[in-house]
Amino acid sequence: MVVTASALSEAFLQQFQTRHAPDCFRAPGRVNLIGEHTDYNQGLVLPIALEMACYVAVASASHGKLRVYSSNLKQTREWPAAKIGSALPEHDWGDYVAGVAQELARSGYEIAPCDLYIRSEVPEGAGLSSSASLEVATALALLGHRSMDKLELAKLCQRAESRFVGMPCGIMDQYASVFGKEGAAIQIDCRNLEYRAVRLPPEVRIVAVNSMVKHELGSSAYRERVAECNEAVAAIRKANSAVESLRDVTPECFKQVQNSIPSTPRKRARHIITENERVSKFSAAATAVDLAEMGRLFLASHRSMQHDYEISCEELDFLVETAVSLKGIEGARMTGGGFGGCTVNLVRPDAVECFRKKIISAYEERFRITPLFYECTPAPGAGALL
Ligand code: GLA
Repeated sequence: MVVTASALSEAFLQQFQTRHAPDCFRAPGRVNLIGEHTDYNQGLVLPIALEMACYVAVASASHGKLRVYSSNLKQTREWPAAKIGSALPEHDWGDYVAGVAQELARSGYEIAPCDLYIRSEVPEGAGLSSSASLEVATALALLGHRSMDKLELAKLCQRAESRFVGMPCGIMDQYASVFGKEGAAIQIDCRNLEYRAVRLPPEVRIVAVNSMVKHELGSSAYRERVAECNEAVAAIRKANSAVESLRDVTPECFKQVQNSIPSTPRKRARHIITENERVSKFSAAATAVDLAEMGRLFLASHRSMQHDYEISCEELDFLVETAVSLKGIEGARMTGGGFGGCTVNLVRPDAVECFRKKIISAYEERFRITPLFYECTPAPGAGALL
């Protein structure tokens, strides 16, 4: 149910101001360095958790509701707390909250009446996981002092997004928000759900550039890609029944079976299989401080998304081409789901300012849009604020 009265928001805010110390939780956004769309194919990804995060404060209440106020949007949503199990999606931001609450209830965690106050620094629609950070911060706030295994928390939030919100996403975003490491990227193996920290050389900065566009195609194309990957697996299984996902297909095996896969799923599979290799190679290159190799892999990943996975767009291609033509830029690629959002760039520290100026002027001239820049420092994963 949508509550519009601004008086309610005022009262709500006051409640938080007068409360001595509401419990407050933080969950970061993420930027993925490399390994795109590999997560739902049980592959490898390499995100970093961001300093930009979503914060959720929680206070218990006696009104019987799960009531939530977004200070970014200045909107309130509410549901009867005891009936959260039967809530239905309303196709807006409240779905992330209701979805998480519903999954918690399904897992046996009672949702007691409470007020949630949300403030997010993660830009929406930029491919930096504003949704996952909202889900994870909400889950922590609703759990309160009850504990949950970290992997279960990430999986629960992913379930909320796929079941309630209706987006059949992989585990990367929620996992990165939960497990993020200060000072390092995390290479997640989405098959066994383990990760290892990968330190990045101080010789490059990670700079995300927000194209400020989000083409509508995004969510339908995501579903299509999931289906096409499954189609590729089904075709490969006819020749090799041991294959359960594209993760099980080596480049050599792919060469042998590729002609038996219809052409579109074949291209999608080629992206996933080569992208998994690029993630391993990128982590090794980062450890060896081989900036040229890191840059080469970034660009190869972008080309693969442009031509094989077909999830880039004019604005992202322009940002990547412009970036790699500049001095001091080791590599650039689109990041996230695609069709808009951000590029991620490996920039020499002394080139950051010049990079910013040149990209702004070129992008403004071409698209009449001013892009935004985020210098990304790997931050810790989600938790309570003291
Ligand atoms: C979105 C999804 C992730 C992942 C990326 C692409 O962010 O939520 O699970 O598939 O796209 O890498």
